[in-house]
Amino acid sequence: MLNKIKRIKEEIGNFRIIDHAELEEFRLKYLSKKGHLNALFEEFKTVAIEQKKEVGQQLNDLKILLSGAYERFKGELDSRRKVETSNDLTRPGDSIPLGSRHPISVVCNEICDIFNRLGYTVAEGPEIEDDWHVFSALNFPPEHPARDMQDTFFVTKNPDRVLRTHTSSVQVRVMESTPPPIRMIMPGRVFRNEVISARSHCIFHQVEGLYIDREVSFADLKQTLMFFAREMFGEETRIRLRPSFFPFTEPSAEMDVSCTCNGKGCNLCKHSGWLEIMGCGMVDPNVLENCGIDPCEYSGFAFGMGIERIAMLKFETRDIRMYFENDVRFLQQFTSAL
Ligand code: PHE
Repeated sequence: MLNKIKRIKEEIGNFRIIDHAELEEFRLKYLSKKGHLNALFEEFKTVAIEQKKEVGQQLNDLKILLSGAYERFKGELDSRRKVETSNDLTRPGDSIPLGSRHPISVVCNEICDIFNRLGYTVAEGPEIEDDWHVFSALNFPPEHPARDMQDTFFVTKNPDRVLRTHTSSVQVRVMESTPPPIRMIMPGRVFRNEVISARSHCIFHQVEGLYIDREVSFADLKQTLMFFAREMFGEETRIRLRPSFFPFTEPSAEMDVSCTCNGKGCNLCKHSGWLEIMGCGMVDPNVLENCGIDPCEYSGFAFGMGIERIAMLKFETRDIRMYFENDVRFLQQFTSAL
């Protein structure tokens, strides 16, 4: 009997199974009621008492070996079948959803594109700035209340490091490093210590523009902004400049564009017929001097707008927070060629 067991063990060692029919053959031959294993257990009853211990142990080993081999063969066949079906080249492919540009990028690109056509090039600068570029060079003296208009985040370990509150800091960098004439726009992310609500966020984006040359006048500023407004909001758009204050421009103005309700009254313009979209003005001679440009020789204008504000007007969205939540249901509504 020990010999029979030994022979079967050798047989299994050389066994290869190709398909389920062979697997079934294996089961019938060794593991079924009429198979070898059962026959051996029958024969075991006749084994002499003194041999029972040894033969019994071998028989149990064989049983474990056979059922283990059966499970292994079955597993191999199943995983081979999985690979075969997943390699089915006639199956339709999984679709890969195409992303779309973020609405803030869409609007930013559109603004840049309009100014590119007027000969403006794009300049960028750091988001973590120093006091000089964000405030001091722009005529905000330390302790001046105008700094409260743009409360920001300071780096505790180094109070000279601030997150920029506006992209005007890039204007300073450009003026410091580029001799006039200058015609540039500066898109970028800015930060302010604001309570987050439907109307304001502590992070948002701006595009600022700067034009410095000989004999640049307020009329040039007005004409440039008029062109921009009509390109952005449509041929019929009218603009309005209201006197305002910024430490770095003199005179300063706030620009409004006419609302599409034509003054008939809607929620967007709060029945005024006008929508405020940007700040602007003639660059203060002090600022030119701070940046190494002679104010007697050169003059220029600057303007700056919030991209979220323009996007909210353009797409008629009421909550600025939507632009930062990354909700695909919101984002996939915007498609653009730019
Ligand atoms: N920097 C101003 C702001 O963030 C906008 C501005 C830019 C105003 C340029 C005038 C000239 O509010």
